[in-house]
Amino acid sequence: MSILFEPKSIGTLELPNRLIRSATAEYMSDLEGKPEQSLADLYAELARGRIGLIITGHCFVHEGGRCHLHMTGVHRDDFIPALETLTTAVHDEGGLVTMQINHGGRQCAADAIPGPAVAPSPVPLSKGEDRPQELKEDGIKDLMIAFADAAGRAKAAGFDGVQIHAAHGYLINQFNSPAANWRRDRWGGTPARRMRFLEEVASSVRDQVGDDYPLLIKLGMEDSVRDGLTLKDSVEIVRHLADWGIDALEVSGAIGKTSVRKDILRPEDEAYFLDAARGAREATDLPIILVGGMRSKQVMESVLQEGSADFISMSRPFIREPDLPARLHEGQEASTCISCNLCWPPPGEYGIACRDPNREQ
Ligand SMILES: Cc1cc2nc3c(=O)[nH]c(=O)nc-3n(C[C@H](O)[C@H](O)[C@H](O)COP(=O)(O)O)c2cc1C
Repeated sequence: MSILFEPKSIGTLELPNRLIRSATAEYMSDLEGKPEQSLADLYAELARGRIGLIITGHCFVHEGGRCHLHMTGVHRDDFIPALETLTTAVHDEGGLVTMQINHGGRQCAADAIPGPAVAPSPVPLSKGEDRPQELKEDGIKDLMIAFADAAGRAKAAGFDGVQIHAAHGYLINQFNSPAANWRRDRWGGTPARRMRFLEEVASSVRDQVGDDYPLLIKLGMEDSVRDGLTLKDSVEIVRHLADWGIDALEVSGAIGKTSVRKDILRPEDEAYFLDAARGAREATDLPIILVGGMRSKQVMESVLQEGSADFISMSRPFIREPDLPARLHEGQEASTCISCNLCWPPPGEYGIACRDPNREQ
């Protein structure tokens, strides 16, 4: 049997195979952030397709951290019953689902938040964009509590675990990154001080959910921008993750949509964060999940066999083929996703979908 279909655990959670649906913003929640039925249906379909674990699209922990309209919210207790419809849909199909929790910081769309965006420093994302408001000590504390409370709500709604989003240029990545964090207080100025926000978020979440609850992280290990976070510094972050209560590390990188590379058409294009996973492997014994252009069984198996990762996660392939694990199990060699990046909803529409114009139905 292929190593892809061997079970393995993340903390107390036993996954039936090594295939994970990486967090993918579905744009299937209403304008308040409550999930629509279409989202529960999508998760049920993924679970039926024999995925090892579903990670939800990023969910906002605070109204000031909502990245875009139609993002799912986990910022209020009265959302718990609506969130429970998602876990019920997955569990009824025998699947597992973990919630990704996030705050967008300076990457929040202006129409998605009630006031100005906040960030570690008043550094705009790019020239010509609005400057975010620098977080004060009280604001930082409030956001740590927001992450912890959100994790508690996810647990109450029946999620099998929580994943902290510390990648793709969102708030936690902003704290980790010297390009976005110019502070000179205890939250910035040195790599150790820049990673303090992540440390405190992870520790507060762990305290909130208890020792046995699966806690994952998606870590941006390299910003790939001028003066940004480098592999050297992120490997130091990785060394501490187990001490902060993390059970598994998903390796990612880059800022915003540049983390979603286009046109992955040959095995050489696949596994584009493999070097980061190799660096992480040197620094931790935690289970590692590798995302980024994983498409063929051959590449997935070789990454697992060399030991750089223990699980493979994918996003776009599951938008096109939600039953991809079952297909791979039955002999299909690779995803048919062409990485055209048309899966995001066009302006005025909502809901992810495979919009490859050449797709055979
Ligand atoms: C439509 C779409 C939405 C995404 N939303 C998220 C998200 O909410 N959280 C996250 O960590 N990554 C998100 N990503 C990035 C993916 O999880 C993944 O890291 C990236 O697409 C590379 O993997 P792939 O080549 O398998 O698609 C999204 C990607 C796509 C295409």
